[in-house]
Amino acid sequence: MRGSLTGFLTDRFSDGGQVSGPAVEVAARAPANLALVKYWGKRDPALNLPAVGSISVTLANLFSEVRVSRAGRGDDELQVNGQCPPPEVTAKFRQFFDLVRLTAKEHEALRVNVTTNFPIAAGLASSASTFAALAVALNALFGLHLDLGQLSQLARRGSGSAARSLFGGFVEWLQGEAPDGSDSVAQPIVPPEHWPLAIVIAVTKPTPKKWASSVAMTVTQSSPFFPAWLASHADDLRVARQAILDRDLRALGEVAEHSALKMHALMMAAKPAVLYWEPATVAVIQRVQALREAGIAAFVSIDAGPQVKILCSQEDRERTVAAVSGISGVQVLRSQPGPGPEILEITP
Ligand code: PMV
Repeated sequence: MRGSLTGFLTDRFSDGGQVSGPAVEVAARAPANLALVKYWGKRDPALNLPAVGSISVTLANLFSEVRVSRAGRGDDELQVNGQCPPPEVTAKFRQFFDLVRLTAKEHEALRVNVTTNFPIAAGLASSASTFAALAVALNALFGLHLDLGQLSQLARRGSGSAARSLFGGFVEWLQGEAPDGSDSVAQPIVPPEHWPLAIVIAVTKPTPKKWASSVAMTVTQSSPFFPAWLASHADDLRVARQAILDRDLRALGEVAEHSALKMHALMMAAKPAVLYWEPATVAVIQRVQALREAGIAAFVSIDAGPQVKILCSQEDRERTVAAVSGISGVQVLRSQPGPGPEILEITP
């Protein structure tokens, strides 16, 4: 069986009590997302509860596919892009599988295969797409019947930003207040068709980054700039929400660039400092500034890594690509707002 997740939930789980049982094997796909107003800082690291709300755009063409099945009594078997991940990464997955098993009251080990169509652990949101896909797939495997909001909360436990990858288009992850995280959930703002802006991704270094985002986030909360980050965040969210509704590229681009640079500034000011940028990162930022001086509305965003994502109109996309692809070592990916997760296959 194949279909969109919304269709899947409607067809299989919400049809007047005709609820199907657990499956033998499930394959699912979920997209990466780009934070326009960033999540940085945790108010509860164990539950992955954010210190701030965030707004993202779900990325077309960048996704993780997962295939999950039961593996009996032994240990979990995990492969990511055909390899066994390093122990600290395996431990993070294992913790997530344990949480799902606890929720499902299941005890069996899992066989899990993850593939991504873009570089992993490089600040391109591979953990967001992977944990969103796993939440969707394991929900179906164990017949958990979680709705999209509950899946968003579950995915959040694997990686904070994964909470937003449950929805297509433009998405807000609410900070929430409840100590148990029950109100810290993502919700759609508008679907991808609302605004097909162009997102040009300049990959400056595809190899894994030096600091995992969860480590960097904890370390840099002691930055003297962190209080200013918290104090100015609500304004950024408000401006971004309105800019998305108005399809106002300049307003959205300015606040997205501001949020990204502010986040990196607070990391650089921490002790120890976290500096994700490469020389090519700075070169791309400067090219985009030059584009703006030439009258092109293009704006940068950078997540926890050295890659630069550029927002511009479809009309200006190829000019933007041309401006950055000449920089030594830069590879360009093209994206735009895309749909949410999809169940690819269920073996009953
Ligand atoms: O979801 P995590 O724990 O990998 O953190 C992601 C943090 C940023 O990508 C830098 C910002 C965000 O909102 O996605």
